[in-house]
Amino acid sequence: MAAAADAAVQSAPARPFAQALKDAQTRIAAHMDARLGGDDPLHAAMRYAVSGGKMLRGFLVLESARLHGVAETAALEAALAIECIHAYSLVHDDLPCMDDDNLRRGQPTVHKKWDEAMAVLAGDSLQTFAFELLADPKIGPNALALIRGLAQASGKDGMVSGQMLDIAAETATSPLDLEQITRLQNRKTGCLISWSATAGAVMAGADETPLRRYADALGLAFQITDDILDVEGDAAKVGKAVRKDADAGKATFVSLLGLDAAKSRAKTLMQQACDALAPYGNAAETLKDTARFVIARES
Ligand code: IPE
Ligand code: IPE
Ligand code: MG
Ligand code: MG
Ligand code: MG
Repeated sequence: MAAAADAAVQSAPARPFAQALKDAQTRIAAHMDARLGGDDPLHAAMRYAVSGGKMLRGFLVLESARLHGVAETAALEAALAIECIHAYSLVHDDLPCMDDDNLRRGQPTVHKKWDEAMAVLAGDSLQTFAFELLADPKIGPNALALIRGLAQASGKDGMVSGQMLDIAAETATSPLDLEQITRLQNRKTGCLISWSATAGAVMAGADETPLRRYADALGLAFQITDDILDVEGDAAKVGKAVRKDADAGKATFVSLLGLDAAKSRAKTLMQQACDALAPYGNAAETLKDTARFVIARES
């Protein structure tokens, strides 16, 4: 049995998905209030940006930590850290110079509720705050690996690079091929999901291979579903504007393969993600449910 799975044998059994996700959202939100309180308008904008999402990435951190017997106090720092990075990416993604969106999670985007300067600055400080959280002594002896991993996943060869490729594709003279779209989406979305799902193994100093395989498939399935929701979704349910990708000339799996093939690709990836968890046995049921949720979600 892989080292990654050893810890899973001793950890608590998996719980029903919906309850587990709700619990995680509540705990991460409470931790944010504790760590990011205060009346400062910048802090208020940061809290606003982090609130109201599915907190899927933070949930993945907590679940992978649970699988590896990592203390919840440490896991919560990492879960909040990734939600801060994710929120920063969205605040900047919504700016007029990027996707120019007015609605996020059913609420006005940060630059609409405040202004563009506040959106730039709240995003900046969410990014640095994430690394402050990961430098907390509670994270333990593997903090540096976690910090280095998040810097790589979010920066010049990770999320920001993916965002750059996404913007560049809008004005490309020929449409991207499957390999180019996969690379773009792996960077834009996959890297942060991968960091989240492997965080527990990294904190525990365990083999992260099964979780990395899981996350590689999950990340792609997640972004394909986001692209499908942009075409098929209902803005009221999705909580953000829809039918924007085609108008903006975005390169997506849907634009390349069409809806049916994109859906079947998401399903195959979901199955691959579940199969990758075999070394964990029943302890990984919640993560398998997460993969099922990711492709079936309506928001
Ligand atoms: C949206 O992510 C942005 C993408 C990477 C596609 P989520 O769908 O996880 O957004 P929230 O955090 O739940 O709002
Ligand atoms: C955003 O992708 C991904 C990041 C912010 C890294 P999208 O532009 O597709 O996300 P939505 O659809 O606005 O949530
Ligand atoms: Mg975008
Ligand atoms: Mg966008
Ligand atoms: Mg989208």
